[in-house]
Amino acid sequence: MDFINLKAQYKAYKNEIDASIAKSLTNAAFIMGESVESLESNLKNYTKAKSAISCSSGTTALVLALMALDIKNGDEVITTPFSFIATVEAILLVGAKPIFVDIDEKTYNLDPKLLENAITKNTKAIIPVSIFGQMPDMESINKIALSHNIAVIEDAAQSFGASFNLNGKSVKSCNASIIATTSFFPSKPLGCYGDGGAVFSNDEKITKKLELLRNHGQSERYKHSTIGINGRLDALQAGILNVKLKYLDSEITKRQEIAENYNKNLKNVITPYIAPGFVSAYAQYSIRAKNREKLMQKLADSKIPYAVHYPIPLHLQEVITKQYNYKKGDFKVSELVCDEIISLPFSAFLSQEEQSQIIKAVNEAN
Ligand SMILES: Cc1ncc(COP(=O)(O)O)c(C=O)c1O
Repeated sequence: MDFINLKAQYKAYKNEIDASIAKSLTNAAFIMGESVESLESNLKNYTKAKSAISCSSGTTALVLALMALDIKNGDEVITTPFSFIATVEAILLVGAKPIFVDIDEKTYNLDPKLLENAITKNTKAIIPVSIFGQMPDMESINKIALSHNIAVIEDAAQSFGASFNLNGKSVKSCNASIIATTSFFPSKPLGCYGDGGAVFSNDEKITKKLELLRNHGQSERYKHSTIGINGRLDALQAGILNVKLKYLDSEITKRQEIAENYNKNLKNVITPYIAPGFVSAYAQYSIRAKNREKLMQKLADSKIPYAVHYPIPLHLQEVITKQYNYKKGDFKVSELVCDEIISLPFSAFLSQEEQSQIIKAVNEAN
């Protein structure tokens, strides 16, 4: 059994994906060009964000977003302690100071009720993370940020395809704040066959900056007006994403069905809480088990793959503690969730038989 069945997904779309790769190779078009342009247009149409700039990874996307906002040494950026390292790594890379705000115990997303207290005169941005595929309470976060004139960057690496209901209208992930980032890492809800990512913005000035920053600060061929990076997405990956994007919504629907089956049948564990009006992209299906060690042993004995997202909260990572004064006990909810969380095999291609096998093993471990 695969943790995420990318082989079955490839088999399902093989003809179109192979044709797209062959087209790139035949045309020897590898950098920027037609498939990158069409991907950006498709991403824009899908999310309804004003712009979509593809780039080389979700980490690059976060760095580009922070660079576009001119965030630098001396600035503070608020984020969650419960995320993949890239969220805080990007803040450190531009020289800013990460300020953590604990998570909500049900959604595992940044708790907006704790936000106001963390804001200082140096706060320049907030990076809420759409953890496991569910967007945070962006309405409350945006409201607080706006009242302090602070930018919001949704780290939507795990939630491309997710949405929430705002005043009767569905708002897609990557279109819920001034700027958002996502990842096309192979295991993500929309994944390519290597590294990839994108930055989305609803601000024209930010979009112009992102375009320059992603490509060596180049305004015209060999004319460079600002310090940028080589942060481009390969055309081959853009072609693959153009194929996969067409099937994303049907995969998201399938993911809801599989999650519902897990929710209904798993016993004595905390299953994911999806807030009313929210649709999760289920980048991961993660449960909490009081006796995680015993569950891991049972899964290993049953040859069922699993993963722990994440065993250590960001404020306790060595890269942070060696330069900032964070310690155990500072963000109790994140620490508790890190001790109990475990992700089960999940993808739109997880068979009924595999689901039953997993449910049986989890229930027998409790
Ligand atoms: C929340 C979060 N942010 C950022 C990233 C970085 O994305 P990438 O691996 O494409 O650099 C990831 C990837 O796992 C992630 O989960």
